[in-house]
Amino acid sequence: MPLLVLKNMKTEILKVDPEEPEPLKIKAAAKILHDGGLVAFPTETVYGLGADAFNPEAVKKIFEVKGRPSDNPLIVHVASISEVYRLAKEVPKKAERLMKRFWPGPLTLVFKKMSVVPDIVTAGLDTVAIRMPDNEAALAMIREAGTPIVAPSANTFSKPSPTTPGHVVSDLYGKIELILDGGNTRIGVESTVVDVTTDSVLLLRPGGLDLEEIEAVVGRVELHPAVKAMPNVNGHAAKAPGMKYKHYAPNAKVVLVEGGGEKIVRNVNSLIRVFVRRGSVVGVITMREGEFYDTDKVKFMRDFNTFAKNLFTAFREFDKIGVDVIIVEGVEERGLGLAIMNRLRKASSQIIHV
Ligand code: TXA
Ligand code: MG
Repeated sequence: MPLLVLKNMKTEILKVDPEEPEPLKIKAAAKILHDGGLVAFPTETVYGLGADAFNPEAVKKIFEVKGRPSDNPLIVHVASISEVYRLAKEVPKKAERLMKRFWPGPLTLVFKKMSVVPDIVTAGLDTVAIRMPDNEAALAMIREAGTPIVAPSANTFSKPSPTTPGHVVSDLYGKIELILDGGNTRIGVESTVVDVTTDSVLLLRPGGLDLEEIEAVVGRVELHPAVKAMPNVNGHAAKAPGMKYKHYAPNAKVVLVEGGGEKIVRNVNSLIRVFVRRGSVVGVITMREGEFYDTDKVKFMRDFNTFAKNLFTAFREFDKIGVDVIIVEGVEERGLGLAIMNRLRKASSQIIHV
């Protein structure tokens, strides 16, 4: 239950330059964090909702404000690789290679944790997820706060992650102290989460950094079954506990159409007609340009980068104009396509193979 005190709080919104953040604004954000408050801030992936990782009371507020189940652990954000050695009990060689190559950037590593990391951060697990975001405002804020910052995506639980300051405002205005507005995020899907606590490297959540790029550094990466599966479908143990919930979902019903080749447009059009006959307003998300769809509400994604960057915005925009059903055409699971398909499967209430 969200606490009453958290509602109708005065939320300040400060525009920051994501490349050369204004020091006074960064100081203001750091002070709030230091005093146990919450600050939404831009990263290269999605907006984060930050709190001091070493202040359990502040971390607790994150779960309350988001309405997030307390068994879903948070990512700790750092501003330098050296901080990892104060949080992680073991830092294997392969992790050092990955950090050197990809940090700052959209890669989160799961380590065995030191006991100084509060239980509320890790939901009682003996591991801790850590990442260094590639955004100067975020890095300056973490540095100035002088403490690692936990940050889930700055959306209400189960809603699409926020990729614009407007998304953060609509989910969290009146509930947190400050929103740092650094413009739209560059990548648009969350970081790739990789477990390095065992002999192999295990992908828990595909994200902004391609699997292929990681494999080029550490060799073969294993995929946790949930990466490609529907949540709850196969009853796999939740190694990344966030996997078991329906996520990223707009209010509209999402129908994912997978496979299909040549026939896909015809199949999508018959689907559209079925839903329209039932009185639904239908939107389509597609990478096919110049095709005819039986609705005027079509969002065209030119390539994987555009798709990732605009996916959550598309969901929210369709909701705004009263779309009831969003039909999305699946994409190939390579590069960013793996993260896109993961988010689509988790958001959809129906998957149709054609
Ligand atoms: O790009 C991102 O990662 C964004 C920005 C704000 O940095 N953050 C983000 O946080 O996506 P969140 O809380 O929405 O997702 C964190 C994911 C969840 O799937 C969670 O289960 C997993 O990381 N995770 C966190 N700690 C973990 C741990 N110790 N072991 C396994 N998975 C963990
Ligand atoms: Mg999230």
